[in-house]
Amino acid sequence: MIRKATAKDLDKINLLGETLHHNFKQLFNIQKEIDNSFAIVLINEDNKEINAFLYALDFSDNIDLLSIVVESEYRNKGIAFNLIKYLMNEYCLTKSITLEVAVNNFNALSLYRRLNFKVVNVRKGYYHGVDALLMRWEMKDIYILAIESSCDETSIAIVKNGTTVEAMTILSQMDTHANYGGVVPEIASRMHTENITLVLDETLKKTNINIVDVDAIAVTYKPGLLGSLLVGIEFAKTLAYVYKKPLIKVNHLIGHIYANAIDNKLEFPLLALVVSGGHTELVVMQDHYNFKLLGATLDDAIGEAYDKVARVLNIPYPGGPGIEKKALEGKDTYKLPRPVLDETYNFSYSGLKSQIINIVHNAKQRNELIREADLACSFQQAAVDELVRKLGLALQNTGIKNVIVAGGVSANKYLRQEIKKVSEEYNAKLNIPDFIYCTDNAAMIGAAAYPIYLKKDFADFSLNAESHANIC
Ligand code: KG4
Ligand code: ZN
Repeated sequence: MIRKATAKDLDKINLLGETLHHNFKQLFNIQKEIDNSFAIVLINEDNKEINAFLYALDFSDNIDLLSIVVESEYRNKGIAFNLIKYLMNEYCLTKSITLEVAVNNFNALSLYRRLNFKVVNVRKGYYHGVDALLMRWEMKDIYILAIESSCDETSIAIVKNGTTVEAMTILSQMDTHANYGGVVPEIASRMHTENITLVLDETLKKTNINIVDVDAIAVTYKPGLLGSLLVGIEFAKTLAYVYKKPLIKVNHLIGHIYANAIDNKLEFPLLALVVSGGHTELVVMQDHYNFKLLGATLDDAIGEAYDKVARVLNIPYPGGPGIEKKALEGKDTYKLPRPVLDETYNFSYSGLKSQIINIVHNAKQRNELIREADLACSFQQAAVDELVRKLGLALQNTGIKNVIVAGGVSANKYLRQEIKKVSEEYNAKLNIPDFIYCTDNAAMIGAAAYPIYLKKDFADFSLNAESHANIC
């Protein structure tokens, strides 16, 4: 059995290490390294006896494999092979592994060649006069075909290594739903059914990658409109079944977060501000898929507030972009009080929304004109100021230096500008996705599916849709 080493295993590891180097303990100081988050120390044990260990350093885009020792009577049993395979499978968010081996160490050379390591350099006289070969193993590129159909966009993308968008198509039903003032669920599902094959065709036309060559099929399965989700899920299952590909289920909200991994590397720990139609959340990520909720909306989500305010101001669906446009023509003259001035990380938008509705209704009753652009601007500033204040509070209290923004409202330019200011104030590195990846799209689903692919955490064909979900 292979597992991560703990401090209890140290004595045995050092004993084994000394069969390799007489001063192993001084050379490597594994004691210190076990506590070091960069170090990977794996051991193999049979019948509770440790008989091999592997020691490597993880430099995030490359693992340096420093040492691998198997007790003499356990050699030629594939233990070293399995230890390296384990390293590749469990730690291969890192793209490559490098190591040095003496040219005359034929057993090791043959092992590394079997594992697909290639010689990249020679180090003359590296081991007491014997040349060393620098060898490297590269993980192959992973292509994920991703499908998003949770609301009113049918989108399919092919994403390489969770970061590069090879091709993407988004077919928006916005114009149809605008006639009804919002998304009509049944129409949305019917339109997904009509369009999804065409969207796949369009996407495949944009790339040389053939569907038979993709490594997995990913699909949004929650949250969203059930009928819409089911169209995407069934389509994904059919492709996975026909082409014999693993199926990956993705939470749409996590998809929005991973829009930040497109053409970018997520650096942890980070603070993620999620601002969508259904969610307003402040989340800490210590690592991939490691989420801790700091705060969330107590009532309406910020996107929902934008949409409802748009409605009373007769701004057509979708409300967010409409309010943003209107606000540009106005000034913050209504001076709305800021929502919930407490020191928690929670948000509240229903009070602000009700205030706007009251202002509009009262004006109507008194036959007064509403300065719509000013009201839109005042609403936007009040809504965004609260987000920015809470983000500032979190940056100050946690000391975290990386910020990402996720969800449809992150397309808002005023929000982007204000978040940039507060991030700069706290010397934090900010990433906001390109506009195209802020609102619903399949590329973000492909990006979010990649860490799941690496963990081989595949879904089976009983996968079903769920209308509600949170990030954590
Ligand atoms: O993330 P998203 O596309 O869908 C959900 O998963 O909810 O977010 C949709 C929300 C809607 O409320 C929409 O009005 C808002 O994002 N939105 C915007 C802007 N673009 C989209 N809100 C403010 N300004 C925008 N430019
Ligand atoms: Zn969304």
